[in-house]
Amino acid sequence: MAAAGGAAGEDARRSVRVVRFGDPSGVVLARERVRAPRGNDVVVAVTHASLGATDVLARRGGYVFQPVPGFVTGYDFVGVLESESAVSVALGLRAGMRVAGVLPRMGSHTTLLVVSPTLLVAVPDGLDPASAAVAPLDAVTAALALQLAGPAPRILIQGVSGPVGSIAAQLAERAGRTVVGTASSPVDGVATIDYRDPDWPARAVEAAGGPFGAAIDHTGSPRVAETLSPDGTLVHTAFAGRRGHERGDSLRGSARAAVARHPRERVCSVPFFVLRHRPAYRRMLSGLLADVAEGRLRSARPQTFALDEVWDAHRAAEGAEPGRKVVLELRAG
Ligand SMILES: NC(=O)c1ccc[n+]([C@@H]2O[C@H](COP(=O)([O-])OP(=O)(O)OC[C@H]3O[C@@H](n4cnc5c(N)ncnc54)[C@H](OP(=O)(O)O)[C@@H]3O)[C@@H](O)[C@H]2O)c1
Repeated sequence: MAAAGGAAGEDARRSVRVVRFGDPSGVVLARERVRAPRGNDVVVAVTHASLGATDVLARRGGYVFQPVPGFVTGYDFVGVLESESAVSVALGLRAGMRVAGVLPRMGSHTTLLVVSPTLLVAVPDGLDPASAAVAPLDAVTAALALQLAGPAPRILIQGVSGPVGSIAAQLAERAGRTVVGTASSPVDGVATIDYRDPDWPARAVEAAGGPFGAAIDHTGSPRVAETLSPDGTLVHTAFAGRRGHERGDSLRGSARAAVARHPRERVCSVPFFVLRHRPAYRRMLSGLLADVAEGRLRSARPQTFALDEVWDAHRAAEGAEPGRKVVLELRAG
């Protein structure tokens, strides 16, 4: 195992790279050098990393922050800290500890990461690494979307059977809010409206007992506005409603959201949050992992694939059943 000093070198790590947009055949496993840590950077031996909707979208070439072919997939990860620095020690992160994090740009599907320790938090004792790995990106997305949504007592959560929607619903209910979700089949513990019903906006308002003060949406559907009160807030986590148009829809939708007044619209971007609000991101992620470890938050159940099965992992992520999330096992950890 390459450690901090010995990390740079031939074949030091294996990475999942997308070399051609499209189906999983455009994914390769590359052996490559690792840059030596600079300044306060630390080395993380990645053991597990989630593979979800954003990775599939980026593989197809439709992601709003689309990297050019040759990029490494993955935003979040769990691993073991292989080295330490003055900053990591100041943050309480010592070599040998289990850590988790979200990157501000894709690249976590690799066996060795050289990163700033300010991206990392400790994984609570007792939380197994695959279960920890499903949480960082999705839980931070859900928590950030709720923060942007504000304190409205009634909230609509689109895609409540998905990993992000499910966590958002739990956090909102825990805060005493009335939650109605949309999905194609009922979700345990949440009033669920079938989004295929042409009258779904009216049905959602009826189920909530009145118009919503906030909605979290990943589809970009203009119909979400029908569910909101005039002073409501619409939070976009994605604009994924029209397959093959996601990138253009995201760019247009984000531009519209910047000037929208009734309802007020906000774009939830975890990469931007991680980049610009590091202490808040770390506090949020630590709290959410503690919630998962202590059973206050139910995250998706991991469906694990070995690194050599990454193509199967991509196929599984395209049709993950409700309540499951694909996790790549990068090393036995
Ligand atoms: N903004 C960020 O920083 C950020 C970070 C992470 C993820 N995301 C995005 O957040 C979104 C949700 O993530 P996820 O992992 O939970 O996604 P996911 O696994 O793709 O789940 C999608 C959910 O949407 C539902 N759905 C499908 N079509 C719908 C429609 N027309 N109307 C309403 N709901 C519909 C699905 O329900 P059924 O299964 O019942 O069909 C499912 O519950 C994704 O688009 C992802 O790319 C954004």
